[in-house]
Amino acid sequence: MKTRIDKIDKNKICEASIQAAGEILKDGGLVAFPTETVYGLGANALDEEAAKKTYAAKGRPSDNPLIVHIARMEDLEAITTHVPEVAKTVAEAFWPGPLTMIFDKSDLVPYGTTGGLDTVAVRMPSDEIARRVILAGGGYISAPSANTSGRPSPTTAEHVAEDLDGRIEMILDGGAVDIGVESTILDMTVTPPMILRPGAVTKEMLEELIGEVEVDRTLIEADSKIVPKAPGMKYRHYAPKASLSIVEGKLEDVISYINREAGEKIAQGYRIGIIGTTETIEHYHCGDVKCIGTREDESTIAGRLYGILREFDADEVDFIYSESFDAGGIGSAVMNRLLKAAGHHVIRL
Ligand code: TXA
Ligand code: MG
Repeated sequence: MKTRIDKIDKNKICEASIQAAGEILKDGGLVAFPTETVYGLGANALDEEAAKKTYAAKGRPSDNPLIVHIARMEDLEAITTHVPEVAKTVAEAFWPGPLTMIFDKSDLVPYGTTGGLDTVAVRMPSDEIARRVILAGGGYISAPSANTSGRPSPTTAEHVAEDLDGRIEMILDGGAVDIGVESTILDMTVTPPMILRPGAVTKEMLEELIGEVEVDRTLIEADSKIVPKAPGMKYRHYAPKASLSIVEGKLEDVISYINREAGEKIAQGYRIGIIGTTETIEHYHCGDVKCIGTREDESTIAGRLYGILREFDADEVDFIYSESFDAGGIGSAVMNRLLKAAGHHVIRL
């Protein structure tokens, strides 16, 4: 299949591209589009066959449910059986935005979309291109991250093309995304609500609004015997080709440890990648050193994370050493993804 790639400007959205995307979606085809978190692989969420195509294009196990994206609050009712008051409060505060909520599903949503579950994950993105695509496609668009299953999520259209060129009908290239890690997932079918995946809407932000919020303990512990509540979180997502170690401790100790290890590995003939920050970058002496952002502003780190992991894949490094980042704010989402990419391999100094 030839994939049509249209550049699209957020500030001057081309109606013809949106219409073309809408037609493909209504026809049961696949269109990748930017959202504020990561690029999504859109399909008609109410069409079981379209869901099958999504799983096939991504090479994703079909028990891993898709998030249904909507653009209008009034569209929530038709796909759910019950929306608790507290969810309305959360929606008012954080929709449109980087938050997904889980509800009991109505019969309108096929099991093919929910991976056989009786619940449905719903998100209303704020990205204007995403909103226009959703409306043009009929209002209910399933969109997993637009990567091959097991690769880092795409934060640019080039990342999408790397994985899916020739496998989907269209890519809308709206440039780099704003946030860079996937939405927070909040399960509203339990009391108190539970975070199944950390993202830009943090536990602290939610608790300030609605009181106690729990966190799925599988997100915190590396114990493989506990099954996470979001089926997708059990897979070794976000995995770079190289073996990745996170080094924790006082920054100066971390730097000397990484320099020493990298030096030894290079002497043995290996290629080494190092993930440092604006504050530390000049202290690394060898290897392929990449700056992920500044410790002063963790959103810069979130924005570069997946891109850096992809660059190291392309560079074919054998080992990657990364500094650790504080787990406050969006830092918890960054550390959650980094820990998964590292298979929870942490060196504590
Ligand atoms: O930011 C995002 O959420 C992006 C953009 C494109 O919107 N989408 C995204 O989708 O990250 P995906 O498919 O890559 O991740 C969806 C996650 C998976 O871990 C899946 O298991 C979980 O959401 N999920 C979906 N429906 C669920 C449900 N009913 N119950 C529990 N977990 C669910
Ligand atoms: Mg994904």
